[in-house]
Amino acid sequence: MDVLTYSLDYESKVPLYHQLYSFIKADIQSGSMPFSTKLPSKRKLSSYLRISQNTVQSAYNQLIEEGYIISKERKGYYVNKIDHLQNIYMQPDTSEDYNKRSKMEAKFDFSYHGVDKTTFPYAVWRKLMKETINECDPELLQLGDSLGYYRLRTVIAQYLHQSRGVNCNENQIIISSGTEVLYQTLIQLFDEDTIFGIENPGYEKLNQLFISNRANFKSINIDRNGMIPEEVYKSNANILCITPSHQFPSGEIMPINRRLQILNWANKEGGRYLIEDDYDSEFKYSTRPIPSLQSLDNNEKVIYMGSFSKSLSPTIRISYMVLPPHLMRRYNKNLSYILCPVPIFEQKVLYRFIQDGYFERHLNKMRNIYKKKREVLVKAITELNCGIQILGADAGLHLLIRIPNNMSEEQLIHSALRQGVRVYGISGYYFDKENIGVIPTIMLGYAEISEEEIVKAVKLLHKAWFE
Ligand SMILES: Cc1ncc(COP(=O)(O)O)c(C=O)c1O
Repeated sequence: MDVLTYSLDYESKVPLYHQLYSFIKADIQSGSMPFSTKLPSKRKLSSYLRISQNTVQSAYNQLIEEGYIISKERKGYYVNKIDHLQNIYMQPDTSEDYNKRSKMEAKFDFSYHGVDKTTFPYAVWRKLMKETINECDPELLQLGDSLGYYRLRTVIAQYLHQSRGVNCNENQIIISSGTEVLYQTLIQLFDEDTIFGIENPGYEKLNQLFISNRANFKSINIDRNGMIPEEVYKSNANILCITPSHQFPSGEIMPINRRLQILNWANKEGGRYLIEDDYDSEFKYSTRPIPSLQSLDNNEKVIYMGSFSKSLSPTIRISYMVLPPHLMRRYNKNLSYILCPVPIFEQKVLYRFIQDGYFERHLNKMRNIYKKKREVLVKAITELNCGIQILGADAGLHLLIRIPNNMSEEQLIHSALRQGVRVYGISGYYFDKENIGVIPTIMLGYAEISEEEIVKAVKLLHKAWFE
């Protein structure tokens, strides 16, 4: 091989020797430079690529060190014998780049995943972090309680009791790192033949979560009041995963009668439970929040789950669950080896944040901000006066709309994107596609987007859908 034709980027911040090294390595890995191929001499390659001989030498040295090539005295450089490498070579995955690019295309995004980005209490958080580290607290270096920091569990128990009517003490609380981790723990807590019932449509992660954990599950249709009791009875499920305070994605609240029906179902047989995912219950705007389902339970049938993902930020990755006493005993017996995955440092900061009253203040502030955003969004849509139907209770951080213009969900999404607005269809949340309604429904999250942006974006949606 006399020369190697690589296009080096002379302007790049990546050193030239490293670029050359990477090109040769990739060729060896892919097999296009097989075992015993002779590499060009330093002199030839340097003059061909217009780089110094030292640069070529550095690239070759790196390849020698990693075992890709060998140097034979007075003969030159040769590709080394490398077993199996061809098999592990994979095309670079560009999907993430693609996602980044396509994300940039939209000027306005009605994503439901995030929170308002301008109001995170940075100053307080910084102060509490500083105070926590400055204390030189030996507890920071100890593994501590596997259920989670004791004091944090204590303030969470108080908060849940006051705000959601949850009856529990700190010894029933397990702190973890995201709803999916809590579900994984529950899968381990129950027998292998347990059948989980999930809402159709519902939280998209659950489907993947049960499949990847090889757990049995069935999707159960919902109506405006939540899971349909007849379908629950038919399903053979033992444990229902439900979102009664704000169904995801419909945004409806489960009325008391349906709550009692579902609780009665659980009470009818041993081994039946309800997992109440109360993920964005902090945000209820015109009336007081509805107490949790757990507060109605007298028979240790409800497992309550909560998270700081909507009330603070999804990036904090702190969530918790409350187990009924007999399940807590089972947990302590069988799963006490699981260490709390949230670092003690973050748990202490969060404990102080709640204990010192910052959390309550933050929630009150965010409630007002999100209420206002919701009002702006509803007003902007209503003023379009084109028959768009708004669905879902005035709670949470998203609402649904139905657009009477005969476009399919895909057409609605794409035409909005062409105007620079990203919206989300709900068909992806149906596990059982047969029940997708005939009129396409679009979900608009309003936590991340500002009031001004909402007004501009809704005008663009009108353009996309009606002009
Ligand atoms: C139904 C539901 N549960 C829980 C969560 C929060 O999950 P996590 O605690 O893993 O951030 C979300 C987030 O959007 C959700 O939609």
